[in-house]
Amino acid sequence: MTIIDGKALADTIKSEIRTEVDAITAAGGKAPHLAAVLIGDDPASQVYVRNKVKSCETVGFRSTLVRRPADISQEELISIVTTLNEDPEIDGFIVQLPLPKHLNEEAVTLAIDPRKDVDGFHPVNFGRMAQGLPCYLPATPFGILEMLRRYNIPTAGKEAVVVGRSNIVGSPMSILLSQKASPGNATVTICHSRTADLAAHTRRADILVAAIGSPDFITGDMVKEGVVVIDVGMNRVEDPQAKNGYRLTGDVDFASVAPKASFITPVPGGVGQMTVVSLLLNTLKAGKGAVYG
Ligand code: GUN
Repeated sequence: MTIIDGKALADTIKSEIRTEVDAITAAGGKAPHLAAVLIGDDPASQVYVRNKVKSCETVGFRSTLVRRPADISQEELISIVTTLNEDPEIDGFIVQLPLPKHLNEEAVTLAIDPRKDVDGFHPVNFGRMAQGLPCYLPATPFGILEMLRRYNIPTAGKEAVVVGRSNIVGSPMSILLSQKASPGNATVTICHSRTADLAAHTRRADILVAAIGSPDFITGDMVKEGVVVIDVGMNRVEDPQAKNGYRLTGDVDFASVAPKASFITPVPGGVGQMTVVSLLLNTLKAGKGAVYG
């Protein structure tokens, strides 16, 4: 069994990006510039955005954090998005989700210029992804593909089972794994809360992607020997022994699943690390005009 080291992989890719950014600036070009919009004070979102900004520094990008209180109006937020769309100094930007309840996430996502949508959440980028056209891939599926590629894990002809059908992970992951590409060419099953006999599906999986949002949901009895397990879960569970009163756990019960797996991603230190790197790769593409010219 091999534990996929997301941290080490992310560090390797960050140093590759850094080399490319140094070459751009040495040639008189501008470093890519990412802006992140953070609304309110959701603790998890603050951590994610801080990591994104810090990672920009590591690779030599410029970054701008736009922070506003939770009671911002929809109009004000759309106006921030419009300003970023029109700012020639900003190559790409993200609006951290979830937004406070009174804000309309769909309308905000639609307001982002697809050419700057480095999260790959805009329907134009989703549609381009689905058709195999140049686009910004959504960060988590992109990071998972990069993990599979760099660990030389074959996907062609394999049974891939994706549990979860969200717009940002499960659905795009299932599309990408089935595409005529490498990684890709898998036979994909997508499972969700209404799936009958979920375990019958997960037990067939050569590659299992768990993106459910439920701690330790996938247990050892639900997988077969030799399975490749990608755990997208990022669940905060209370833990009185932990320093801040909680610990992070995935959607996979690592203790019972790992002994049967050929490869498995840990939480933390797995997919999450790669998600940030994907955002950096998309921002690098944005800076170079590599997707939309
Ligand atoms: N919330 C959880 N994951 C993400 C992400 O990848 N991007 C944004 N913008 N918000 C998120």
